[in-house]
Amino acid sequence: MSLAGDGIDRVKSAADLVQIVGEHVRLRKSGSNFIGLCPFHSEKTPSFHVHAERQFFYCFGCHAKGDVIHFVEKIEGLTFADALRWLGERYGIPVGSRSPSSERKAGERRILLEIQARAGRYFRRELTGGAAPRAQRYLEDRGLTPEIQKRFGIGYAPGRSDRLLKELSAAHSLDQLRLSGLIQRNERDSSHYARFRGRVMFPIWNEAGKIVGFGGRALGEEQPKYLNSPETPLYNKSGVLYALNLARETIRRQGRAVLVEGYMDCIALHQAGVGNAVAVCGTSLTESQVRLLGRFTKKVVVNFDPDEAGDSATLRSLAVLSQGGFGVRVLALPDRLDPDAYIRRHGVAAYRELLERAPTDFEHLLARARDKHRLETIEGKVAAIEELLPYLARVSNRIEREEKTRRVAEYFRVEEDAVREELRKAAGGGRGKLELGRSRKPSLSPAERQLIKVILDLDREAGRIVDQLDRSKVHVGMESEVVFSAMVALYRKEGRVEAERLRESLPGDREQNWISEAVFEEGDQQQVDGCLKWLERRKVQREVARLQQQIEQADRAKDIELVASLDSKKVKLILSIAG
Ligand code: UTP
Ligand code: MN
Repeated sequence: MSLAGDGIDRVKSAADLVQIVGEHVRLRKSGSNFIGLCPFHSEKTPSFHVHAERQFFYCFGCHAKGDVIHFVEKIEGLTFADALRWLGERYGIPVGSRSPSSERKAGERRILLEIQARAGRYFRRELTGGAAPRAQRYLEDRGLTPEIQKRFGIGYAPGRSDRLLKELSAAHSLDQLRLSGLIQRNERDSSHYARFRGRVMFPIWNEAGKIVGFGGRALGEEQPKYLNSPETPLYNKSGVLYALNLARETIRRQGRAVLVEGYMDCIALHQAGVGNAVAVCGTSLTESQVRLLGRFTKKVVVNFDPDEAGDSATLRSLAVLSQGGFGVRVLALPDRLDPDAYIRRHGVAAYRELLERAPTDFEHLLARARDKHRLETIEGKVAAIEELLPYLARVSNRIEREEKTRRVAEYFRVEEDAVREELRKAAGGGRGKLELGRSRKPSLSPAERQLIKVILDLDREAGRIVDQLDRSKVHVGMESEVVFSAMVALYRKEGRVEAERLRESLPGDREQNWISEAVFEEGDQQQVDGCLKWLERRKVQREVARLQQQIEQADRAKDIELVASLDSKKVKLILSIAG
């Protein structure tokens, strides 16, 4: 990598180590030094020294030392090059490539940050100035103290949109304001108006504490419940974790984070003293969010809403988190309560107790499979175990995989070898190779693509197909299962299947690309039944293949009765799609 040498020098002379350290450590002056408690090890008496003049830090306890770039590298968990870039961005100094376009981008970012900050202050004034009694009452009713409102920068966007416009256009051009996502243009008469009106405003910060966007909550039943900033050069929904800037020190200190779904859940937890909570804010956890969190801890407790959408978001998150090397626990609250409601009803002590007892992702999946299926039937048992196979296949450590396979067998009271064999089949078509999904990347079939497109087109009218999918489960086991499950969950939650919301609820680039591609697909509602039938046939084919294997096995074992019963099952299946 070519990091221009003078980039380093320019960053070092622009950045102020005392200020940067001061954001993490309470420093007091002592001669020409500043001293405080070391952020890199835990101590009771301060041994962390910052030399202001020489721009150098040293800890007598753990011997951490270096300049401002090293400090950022360590505290932010970045590589040297990224720490340099981080500082460059912060002080508006282009680093590495100093092309005109990167200078322009850095400049644009600086302006957009300024606009968001200004808007944040404005919304805050609107809330606290006494002119928004309804918003104040709303927050009070939801149990948020003035202190927590302040800490989370909560504000109010008034119903009239000219005030914000006036406030912002004093310092910025309309082009800049449109780019910020806060101001929109009415295409009919070219007038400008505020995107957020009559909403309680939650600033969304990046991990460094700069406002990059907002979520605005309706005061009543207006839709949508939350309106968010659109994607801008600053704000990428699936790249931020809400409140990470406030939670990061606690996360680092406690060595783990609590991951929740919503703004309110996160704020309620912080108010109750659970300061390591962060939220995904309605999107499914993405790989980039996992990387971001991974800079501060590798342990997380997932505590999503105990509804269908939360359950499927949890499943998807577990996959992304374990792929990212996280140790994961799952907290499923009783009585369909989200964290906010649970704490209000039962108090934070009860919540903490559940948090401490939260089972590992594996134990959670075991219990979930047990509760979902009727284990006293063979089919139920088979289905329950099948649900665990993808998890087992993802365990990359062989010893751990063996142990967990044994546990599955024990848990469902089946032969260990049988589980192992199913695992092999699921993973590599019986070739004994454990490779799932990621390594084989067939793209979607035309039928799958068309069906996705049609459901997206139906949007609010997708109820019938969603029901059909949900009932027949024809998508289960397909490459595209995650997409159809997400569609079902989204429709159940929001009453519509909107492409952008669907995209952001999917875990990886690959799945998200499917949606972008499907949008361009020729979709015709006449084809729905054909597509469903095709999926059904595929499902039956797989089922038949599975039966066939069992038949051959039973045949080898000379179990004639079993062969006969499996065979008649197989025939029935084949007949069911023949007609
Ligand atoms: P929830 O519907 O669970 O909201 O959505 P909540 O956080 O419990 O909110 P309250 O308590 O009813 O006020 C979880 C998250 O999904 C996103 C928001 O980030 C929300 O916090 N969401 C939800 C949206 O972005 N838009 C919506 O219309 C709904
Ligand atoms: Mn909720």
